[in-house]
Amino acid sequence: MSDKIPKKWLHNHPVSITSGNGSIDILQDILPPEGKILLITTPGFTRRGETDNFINIIGKQRTLLYDKIAPNPQISDLDNITQKFSVNSEISGIVALGGGSVIDSAKVLGVTLVLDDTTQIKELIPYPLYNIFIKQRPFNPSQVKSKIPVIAIPTTSGTGAEVTPFATIWDQNSKKKFSLSHFCIYPSHAILDPALTLPLPYNETLYSGLDAISHALESLWNINRTPITAALALQSLSITVKALPMVLENPAKLYSRTLMQEASLLAGMAISQSRTAIAHAISYPLTIHKGVPHGLACSFTLPRLARNYLSRLDKKHNNMSGCIEKKIIEGVFELLQKINLPKEIYRYIKDSDILQYIPEMFHPERAANYSEDMDYNLLTQLLKQSLEI
Ligand SMILES: [Fe+2]
Repeated sequence: MSDKIPKKWLHNHPVSITSGNGSIDILQDILPPEGKILLITTPGFTRRGETDNFINIIGKQRTLLYDKIAPNPQISDLDNITQKFSVNSEISGIVALGGGSVIDSAKVLGVTLVLDDTTQIKELIPYPLYNIFIKQRPFNPSQVKSKIPVIAIPTTSGTGAEVTPFATIWDQNSKKKFSLSHFCIYPSHAILDPALTLPLPYNETLYSGLDAISHALESLWNINRTPITAALALQSLSITVKALPMVLENPAKLYSRTLMQEASLLAGMAISQSRTAIAHAISYPLTIHKGVPHGLACSFTLPRLARNYLSRLDKKHNNMSGCIEKKIIEGVFELLQKINLPKEIYRYIKDSDILQYIPEMFHPERAANYSEDMDYNLLTQLLKQSLEI
Protein backbone atom coordinates (compact mmCIF):
# COMPACT_ATOMS: atom_id res chain seq x y z
CA MET A 1 0.00 0.00 0.00
CA SER A 2 1.24 3.49 -0.84
CA ASP A 3 2.50 5.68 2.06
CA LYS A 4 1.30 8.81 0.29
CA ILE A 5 -0.46 11.15 2.73
CA PRO A 6 -4.16 11.49 1.75
CA LYS A 7 -5.18 14.94 0.59
CA LYS A 8 -7.38 17.25 2.69
CA TRP A 9 -11.10 16.87 2.32
CA LEU A 10 -14.35 18.43 3.52
CA HIS A 11 -17.72 16.76 3.95
CA ASN A 12 -20.60 19.22 4.13
CA HIS A 13 -24.13 17.96 3.61
CA PRO A 14 -27.12 20.11 4.58
CA VAL A 15 -30.17 18.01 3.55
CA SER A 16 -32.51 16.73 6.29
CA ILE A 17 -33.70 13.25 5.37
CA THR A 18 -36.87 11.47 6.45
CA SER A 19 -37.10 7.90 5.19
CA GLY A 20 -39.37 4.88 5.49
CA ASN A 21 -42.88 3.70 4.74
CA GLY A 22 -45.40 6.45 5.57
CA SER A 23 -42.73 9.13 5.91
CA ILE A 24 -44.77 11.38 3.62
CA ASP A 25 -46.78 12.20 6.76
CA ILE A 26 -44.02 14.58 7.78
CA LEU A 27 -44.66 16.90 4.81
CA GLN A 28 -47.29 18.94 6.60
CA ASP A 29 -44.95 19.57 9.54
CA ILE A 30 -42.00 20.78 7.50
CA LEU A 31 -43.77 23.10 5.07
CA PRO A 32 -43.01 26.79 5.59
CA PRO A 33 -45.78 28.13 7.86
CA GLU A 34 -46.80 30.98 5.57
CA GLY A 35 -46.89 31.86 1.88
CA LYS A 36 -47.73 29.88 -1.24
CA ILE A 37 -46.25 26.45 -2.00
CA LEU A 38 -45.32 25.63 -5.59
CA LEU A 39 -45.98 21.92 -6.27
CA ILE A 40 -43.91 20.63 -9.20
CA THR A 41 -44.64 17.27 -10.78
CA THR A 42 -45.38 15.46 -14.06
CA PRO A 43 -48.64 14.98 -15.99
CA GLY A 44 -48.58 11.27 -15.02
CA PHE A 45 -49.02 11.99 -11.31
CA THR A 46 -52.01 14.23 -12.01
CA ARG A 47 -53.53 11.62 -14.35
CA ARG A 48 -53.25 8.96 -11.65
CA GLY A 49 -54.88 11.28 -9.10
CA GLU A 50 -51.79 11.43 -6.88
CA THR A 51 -51.27 15.18 -7.30
CA ASP A 52 -54.61 15.78 -5.56
CA ASN A 53 -53.39 13.92 -2.47
CA PHE A 54 -50.49 16.32 -2.20
CA ILE A 55 -52.66 19.37 -2.82
CA ASN A 56 -54.82 18.20 0.07
CA ILE A 57 -51.80 17.83 2.35
CA ILE A 58 -50.44 21.26 1.39
CA GLY A 59 -53.87 22.93 1.37
CA LYS A 60 -55.81 24.01 -1.73
CA GLN A 61 -55.56 27.72 -0.91
CA ARG A 62 -51.79 27.60 -0.59
CA THR A 63 -50.93 25.42 -3.58
CA LEU A 64 -49.68 26.67 -6.93
CA LEU A 65 -49.44 23.68 -9.27
CA TYR A 66 -47.10 23.06 -12.19
CA ASP A 67 -47.56 19.50 -13.44
CA LYS A 68 -46.01 19.57 -16.91
CA ILE A 69 -42.38 18.70 -16.22
CA ALA A 70 -40.99 16.51 -19.03
CA PRO A 71 -37.91 14.24 -18.93
CA ASN A 72 -34.58 16.08 -19.30
CA PRO A 73 -35.81 19.63 -18.46
CA GLN A 74 -35.05 22.24 -21.11
CA ILE A 75 -33.58 25.68 -20.48
CA SER A 76 -36.45 27.32 -22.41
CA ASP A 77 -39.11 25.47 -20.38
CA LEU A 78 -37.55 26.37 -17.04
CA ASP A 79 -37.19 30.02 -18.09
CA ASN A 80 -40.87 30.04 -19.04
CA ILE A 81 -41.88 28.50 -15.68
CA THR A 82 -39.74 31.13 -13.95
CA GLN A 83 -41.58 33.88 -15.82
CA LYS A 84 -44.96 32.35 -15.07
CA PHE A 85 -44.44 32.13 -11.32
CA SER A 86 -41.95 34.92 -10.52
CA VAL A 87 -44.81 37.42 -10.52
CA ASN A 88 -46.02 35.65 -7.38
CA SER A 89 -43.55 36.82 -4.78
CA GLU A 90 -45.45 34.99 -2.04
CA ILE A 91 -43.93 31.58 -2.88
CA SER A 92 -42.23 30.41 0.31
CA GLY A 93 -41.50 26.79 -0.62
CA ILE A 94 -41.34 24.30 -3.49
CA VAL A 95 -42.43 20.67 -3.23
CA ALA A 96 -40.93 18.43 -5.94
CA LEU A 97 -42.80 15.17 -6.50
CA GLY A 98 -41.16 12.97 -9.12
CA GLY A 99 -37.88 11.65 -10.50
CA GLY A 100 -34.62 13.44 -11.19
CA SER A 101 -36.05 15.78 -13.85
CA VAL A 102 -38.73 17.09 -11.46
CA ILE A 103 -36.34 17.49 -8.54
CA ASP A 104 -33.66 19.16 -10.68
CA SER A 105 -36.30 21.56 -12.07
CA ALA A 106 -37.38 22.47 -8.53
CA LYS A 107 -33.78 23.05 -7.46
CA VAL A 108 -33.26 25.45 -10.37
CA LEU A 109 -36.54 27.26 -9.72
CA GLY A 110 -35.58 27.64 -6.06
CA VAL A 111 -32.92 30.06 -7.32
CA THR A 112 -34.39 31.57 -10.50
CA LEU A 113 -37.73 32.46 -8.88
CA VAL A 114 -36.03 34.83 -6.46
CA LEU A 115 -33.82 36.63 -8.97
CA ASP A 116 -34.66 40.28 -8.72
CA ASP A 117 -33.39 43.47 -10.29
CA THR A 118 -30.43 43.99 -7.97
CA THR A 119 -27.49 45.29 -9.94
CA GLN A 120 -25.38 42.13 -10.31
CA ILE A 121 -28.10 39.96 -11.78
CA LYS A 122 -30.36 42.46 -13.51
CA GLU A 123 -29.15 41.52 -17.00
CA LEU A 124 -30.13 37.88 -16.47
CA ILE A 125 -33.82 38.72 -16.33
CA PRO A 126 -36.26 37.68 -17.84
CA TYR A 127 -34.57 34.55 -19.27
CA PRO A 128 -32.01 33.70 -16.59
CA LEU A 129 -30.96 30.21 -17.73
CA TYR A 130 -30.67 31.27 -21.38
CA ASN A 131 -28.50 34.20 -20.32
CA ILE A 132 -26.35 32.14 -17.96
CA PHE A 133 -25.76 29.06 -20.10
CA ILE A 134 -26.23 30.13 -23.73
CA LYS A 135 -25.13 33.78 -23.51
CA GLN A 136 -22.57 32.85 -20.81
CA ARG A 137 -23.28 35.89 -18.67
CA PRO A 138 -21.45 35.60 -15.33
CA PHE A 139 -23.55 34.29 -12.49
CA ASN A 140 -22.83 33.00 -9.02
CA PRO A 141 -25.92 31.60 -7.25
CA SER A 142 -24.64 33.03 -3.96
CA GLN A 143 -25.45 36.51 -5.40
CA VAL A 144 -29.08 35.61 -4.86
CA LYS A 145 -30.22 37.10 -1.56
CA SER A 146 -32.20 34.07 -0.43
CA LYS A 147 -33.42 30.95 -2.16
CA ILE A 148 -36.76 29.22 -1.87
CA PRO A 149 -36.45 25.98 0.15
CA VAL A 150 -37.15 22.81 -1.84
CA ILE A 151 -38.68 19.67 -0.34
CA ALA A 152 -37.71 16.79 -2.63
CA ILE A 153 -39.94 13.70 -2.74
CA PRO A 154 -38.34 11.17 -5.12
CA THR A 155 -40.57 8.65 -6.88
CA THR A 156 -37.72 6.79 -8.58
CA SER A 157 -34.68 5.15 -6.98
CA GLY A 158 -31.52 6.15 -8.76
CA THR A 159 -30.84 9.81 -9.43
CA GLY A 160 -30.01 10.80 -5.86
CA ALA A 161 -31.13 14.31 -6.91
CA GLU A 162 -32.81 14.76 -3.53
CA VAL A 163 -29.41 14.99 -1.84
CA THR A 164 -27.10 16.57 -4.44
CA PRO A 165 -26.12 20.20 -5.10
CA PHE A 166 -26.41 19.83 -8.89
CA ALA A 167 -29.20 20.27 -11.40
CA THR A 168 -28.82 18.97 -14.95
CA ILE A 169 -30.56 21.01 -17.63
CA TRP A 170 -30.59 20.59 -21.38
CA ASP A 171 -30.77 22.72 -24.52
CA GLN A 172 -32.15 20.85 -27.51
CA ASN A 173 -31.27 23.75 -29.85
CA SER A 174 -27.54 23.62 -29.18
CA LYS A 175 -27.68 19.87 -28.33
CA LYS A 176 -25.89 20.52 -25.06
CA LYS A 177 -26.27 19.56 -21.43
CA PHE A 178 -25.52 22.04 -18.65
CA SER A 179 -25.18 21.76 -14.91
CA LEU A 180 -26.12 24.28 -12.28
CA SER A 181 -23.92 23.36 -9.38
CA HIS A 182 -23.72 25.17 -6.08
CA PHE A 183 -24.19 24.56 -2.36
CA CYS A 184 -27.40 26.61 -2.41
CA ILE A 185 -28.96 24.20 -4.94
CA TYR A 186 -29.32 21.51 -2.24
CA PRO A 187 -32.92 20.74 -1.27
CA SER A 188 -33.66 21.61 2.34
CA HIS A 189 -35.44 18.31 3.02
CA ALA A 190 -35.76 14.91 1.31
CA ILE A 191 -38.71 12.65 2.03
CA LEU A 192 -38.15 9.05 0.96
CA ASP A 193 -41.38 7.12 1.09
CA PRO A 194 -40.87 3.78 -0.72
CA ALA A 195 -44.60 3.36 -1.41
CA LEU A 196 -44.28 6.18 -3.98
CA THR A 197 -41.88 4.05 -6.03
CA LEU A 198 -44.20 1.01 -6.24
CA PRO A 199 -45.87 2.03 -9.57
CA LEU A 200 -42.53 2.52 -11.35
CA PRO A 201 -42.49 0.41 -14.58
CA TYR A 202 -39.83 -2.26 -15.22
CA ASN A 203 -37.56 -0.25 -17.53
CA GLU A 204 -37.56 2.84 -15.32
CA THR A 205 -36.85 0.68 -12.27
CA LEU A 206 -33.94 -0.95 -14.09
CA TYR A 207 -32.48 2.27 -15.53
CA SER A 208 -32.78 4.21 -12.29
CA GLY A 209 -31.18 1.29 -10.43
CA LEU A 210 -28.32 1.35 -12.94
CA ASP A 211 -27.95 5.09 -12.34
CA ALA A 212 -27.55 4.43 -8.60
CA ILE A 213 -24.88 1.78 -9.33
CA SER A 214 -23.17 4.22 -11.64
CA HIS A 215 -23.11 6.94 -8.96
CA ALA A 216 -21.64 4.60 -6.36
CA LEU A 217 -18.94 3.20 -8.68
CA GLU A 218 -18.12 6.64 -10.10
CA SER A 219 -17.52 8.00 -6.61
CA LEU A 220 -15.10 5.13 -5.89
CA TRP A 221 -12.88 5.66 -8.95
CA ASN A 222 -12.97 9.41 -8.42
CA ILE A 223 -10.15 11.82 -7.68
CA ASN A 224 -12.45 13.47 -5.09
CA ARG A 225 -13.04 10.22 -3.19
CA THR A 226 -12.92 10.52 0.60
CA PRO A 227 -13.29 7.90 3.37
CA ILE A 228 -16.91 9.01 3.79
CA THR A 229 -17.86 8.87 0.10
CA ALA A 230 -16.21 5.44 -0.16
CA ALA A 231 -18.20 4.16 2.84
CA LEU A 232 -21.44 5.52 1.39
CA ALA A 233 -20.74 4.07 -2.05
CA LEU A 234 -19.77 0.61 -0.81
CA GLN A 235 -22.84 0.39 1.43
CA SER A 236 -24.99 1.49 -1.51
CA LEU A 237 -23.51 -1.16 -3.82
CA SER A 238 -23.80 -3.95 -1.28
CA ILE A 239 -27.52 -3.14 -0.89
CA THR A 240 -28.10 -2.83 -4.65
CA VAL A 241 -26.54 -6.21 -5.48
CA LYS A 242 -29.23 -7.83 -3.34
CA ALA A 243 -32.14 -5.45 -3.93
CA LEU A 244 -32.11 -4.68 -7.67
CA PRO A 245 -32.72 -8.30 -8.82
CA MET A 246 -35.44 -8.59 -6.14
CA VAL A 247 -37.23 -5.42 -7.19
CA LEU A 248 -37.08 -6.34 -10.89
CA GLU A 249 -38.53 -9.75 -10.16
CA ASN A 250 -41.21 -8.55 -7.77
CA PRO A 251 -41.85 -4.81 -8.26
CA ALA A 252 -44.81 -4.75 -5.84
CA LYS A 253 -42.70 -5.75 -2.83
CA LEU A 254 -42.26 -2.79 -0.49
CA TYR A 255 -39.22 -4.31 1.22
CA SER A 256 -37.04 -4.38 -1.92
CA ARG A 257 -38.38 -0.96 -3.02
CA THR A 258 -37.25 0.40 0.37
CA LEU A 259 -33.79 -1.08 -0.05
CA MET A 260 -33.38 0.39 -3.54
CA GLN A 261 -34.46 3.79 -2.30
CA GLU A 262 -31.82 3.63 0.44
CA ALA A 263 -29.14 2.46 -1.99
CA SER A 264 -29.97 5.37 -4.30
CA LEU A 265 -29.86 7.82 -1.40
CA LEU A 266 -26.43 6.63 -0.25
CA ALA A 267 -24.99 6.78 -3.78
CA GLY A 268 -26.47 10.27 -4.19
CA MET A 269 -24.82 11.37 -0.95
CA ALA A 270 -21.51 9.99 -2.21
CA ILE A 271 -21.61 11.94 -5.51
CA SER A 272 -22.83 15.05 -3.70
CA GLN A 273 -19.24 15.31 -2.46
CA SER A 274 -17.16 13.47 -5.10
CA ARG A 275 -19.24 14.25 -8.23
CA THR A 276 -19.46 11.75 -11.05
CA ALA A 277 -16.74 10.74 -13.54
CA ILE A 278 -16.05 9.20 -16.95
CA ALA A 279 -19.15 6.98 -17.27
CA HIS A 280 -21.35 10.06 -16.88
CA ALA A 281 -19.18 12.09 -19.28
CA ILE A 282 -19.74 9.33 -21.85
CA SER A 283 -23.50 9.34 -21.28
CA TYR A 284 -24.50 12.94 -21.99
CA PRO A 285 -24.04 13.05 -25.81
CA LEU A 286 -25.94 9.76 -26.09
CA THR A 287 -28.89 11.18 -24.17
CA ILE A 288 -29.05 14.52 -25.96
CA HIS A 289 -28.46 13.22 -29.51
CA LYS A 290 -30.18 9.84 -29.35
CA GLY A 291 -32.50 9.97 -26.35
CA VAL A 292 -30.79 7.08 -24.54
CA PRO A 293 -32.23 7.03 -20.98
CA HIS A 294 -29.72 8.47 -18.53
CA GLY A 295 -29.39 5.41 -16.30
CA LEU A 296 -28.60 3.19 -19.30
CA ALA A 297 -26.31 5.70 -21.02
CA CYS A 298 -24.16 6.10 -17.90
CA SER A 299 -23.98 2.40 -17.07
CA PHE A 300 -23.24 0.43 -20.25
CA THR A 301 -19.50 1.09 -19.82
CA LEU A 302 -19.48 0.14 -16.12
CA PRO A 303 -18.61 -3.58 -16.50
CA ARG A 304 -15.45 -2.77 -18.45
CA LEU A 305 -14.55 0.17 -16.17
CA ALA A 306 -15.15 -2.03 -13.12
CA ARG A 307 -12.95 -4.78 -14.54
CA ASN A 308 -10.14 -2.29 -15.22
CA TYR A 309 -10.54 -0.82 -11.73
CA LEU A 310 -10.52 -4.24 -10.06
CA SER A 311 -7.28 -5.17 -11.80
CA ARG A 312 -5.60 -2.15 -10.21
CA LEU A 313 -7.30 -2.33 -6.83
CA ASP A 314 -4.90 -4.95 -5.39
CA LYS A 315 -1.93 -2.64 -5.85
CA LYS A 316 -3.73 0.43 -4.49
CA HIS A 317 -5.51 -0.92 -1.42
CA ASN A 318 -3.75 -4.07 -0.35
CA ASN A 319 -5.52 -4.23 3.02
CA MET A 320 -8.79 -5.34 4.66
CA SER A 321 -10.89 -2.45 3.32
CA GLY A 322 -9.43 -3.02 -0.15
CA CYS A 323 -10.51 -6.70 0.03
CA ILE A 324 -14.04 -5.67 1.03
CA GLU A 325 -14.20 -3.13 -1.81
CA LYS A 326 -12.98 -5.76 -4.26
CA LYS A 327 -15.55 -8.32 -3.10
CA ILE A 328 -18.41 -5.81 -3.41
CA ILE A 329 -17.37 -4.63 -6.88
CA GLU A 330 -17.03 -8.24 -8.06
CA GLY A 331 -20.66 -8.76 -6.98
CA VAL A 332 -21.73 -5.66 -8.92
CA PHE A 333 -19.76 -6.84 -11.97
CA GLU A 334 -21.63 -10.16 -11.94
CA LEU A 335 -24.98 -8.37 -11.65
CA LEU A 336 -24.16 -6.06 -14.59
CA GLN A 337 -23.06 -9.04 -16.70
CA LYS A 338 -26.42 -10.73 -16.09
CA ILE A 339 -28.34 -7.60 -17.11
CA ASN A 340 -26.60 -7.66 -20.53
CA LEU A 341 -26.15 -3.93 -21.03
CA PRO A 342 -25.01 -4.05 -24.70
CA LYS A 343 -28.32 -5.67 -25.62
CA GLU A 344 -30.18 -2.95 -23.70
CA ILE A 345 -28.32 -0.05 -25.32
CA TYR A 346 -28.74 -1.45 -28.86
CA ARG A 347 -32.45 -0.88 -28.38
CA TYR A 348 -31.69 2.85 -28.67
CA ILE A 349 -28.51 3.29 -30.71
CA LYS A 350 -26.07 1.58 -33.12
CA ASP A 351 -22.41 1.13 -32.18
CA SER A 352 -21.20 3.31 -35.07
CA ASP A 353 -23.42 6.13 -33.79
CA ILE A 354 -21.92 5.87 -30.32
CA LEU A 355 -18.33 6.11 -31.57
CA GLN A 356 -18.95 9.35 -33.47
CA TYR A 357 -19.65 11.16 -30.19
CA ILE A 358 -16.26 10.39 -28.61
CA PRO A 359 -14.99 14.02 -28.93
CA GLU A 360 -18.03 15.24 -26.95
CA MET A 361 -17.44 12.65 -24.23
CA PHE A 362 -14.24 14.30 -23.05
CA HIS A 363 -16.11 16.95 -21.11
CA PRO A 364 -13.60 18.18 -18.51
CA GLU A 365 -16.32 18.74 -15.93
CA ARG A 366 -16.79 14.99 -15.46
CA ALA A 367 -14.11 13.08 -17.37
CA ALA A 368 -11.33 14.74 -15.36
CA ASN A 369 -12.72 13.27 -12.11
CA TYR A 370 -11.82 9.75 -13.26
CA SER A 371 -8.87 8.56 -11.18
CA GLU A 372 -7.42 6.18 -13.82
CA ASP A 373 -5.71 6.80 -17.17
CA MET A 374 -8.00 7.88 -20.00
CA ASP A 375 -7.28 9.31 -23.44
CA TYR A 376 -8.91 9.21 -26.88
CA ASN A 377 -7.56 5.76 -27.74
CA LEU A 378 -8.41 4.25 -24.35
CA LEU A 379 -11.93 5.68 -24.56
CA THR A 380 -12.42 4.23 -28.06
CA GLN A 381 -11.22 0.85 -26.77
CA LEU A 382 -13.49 1.09 -23.72
CA LEU A 383 -16.56 1.83 -25.86
CA LYS A 384 -15.83 -0.98 -28.33
CA GLN A 385 -15.31 -3.48 -25.51
CA SER A 386 -18.44 -2.28 -23.73
CA LEU A 387 -20.55 -2.84 -26.86
CA GLU A 388 -19.50 -6.48 -27.40
CA ILE A 389 -22.40 -8.82 -26.73
FE1 LIG B 1 -26.51 9.79 -13.00
